[in-house]
Amino acid sequence: MTVIRLASGRLMLHSPCQITPLIAKEISELGQVAYIVAPGNFHHLYIATAQAAFPAAKTWICPGVERRNPSLKYDGVLGDVAPAEWEGEIDQVLVQGTRIMREVAMFHVASRTLILVDLIENFGDTTPRVGAALKFWFKYVLRMWNNPRPAPEYRIGWSDRQAAAKSLSRILAWDFQRIVLSHGDLVDRNARQVAATAWSAILGQR
Ligand SMILES: [Fe+2]
Repeated sequence: MTVIRLASGRLMLHSPCQITPLIAKEISELGQVAYIVAPGNFHHLYIATAQAAFPAAKTWICPGVERRNPSLKYDGVLGDVAPAEWEGEIDQVLVQGTRIMREVAMFHVASRTLILVDLIENFGDTTPRVGAALKFWFKYVLRMWNNPRPAPEYRIGWSDRQAAAKSLSRILAWDFQRIVLSHGDLVDRNARQVAATAWSAILGQR
């Protein structure tokens, strides 16, 4: 989960983890939760726990979440343009040309932070709590150890590589200095270079 404080002081919960009473209390100490965001079609599992903890918040979902989780209540569907609610503070790209995964990448302008879920996974020697089986899988099968790359579900197929490249190029045009992601270590050095390298196989399709 990423917690974003907007200029108003209100918060966005991005890809919430399970919101326990303790976590809810800690978040409440940061500010009022205005938005709950499911930014990817595989990142919706704990949205309902966030809604229960913060019933006044509006929920925005990535396209596809409504099919994977039909019982989930939501207020808006994320698109390729930031809604008025956070326009100017957070920019966004709905990545096109994907087959299995759907994801809305976000850019928090004030902190120059790119916020992803699955477009880059970053596991390596410094990643805590990685078991031997996961390490073997990432190192020898997926070849993603110390080698940030899109989630395997992206890499096994794009429906339109040129459209994907166009979306990724829009993301790379943002002036970000770090990447927050959902699987593995955050990227706080050479962030734009890391992203360009992670996506090079697709960007080369332009
Ligand atoms: Fe994920």
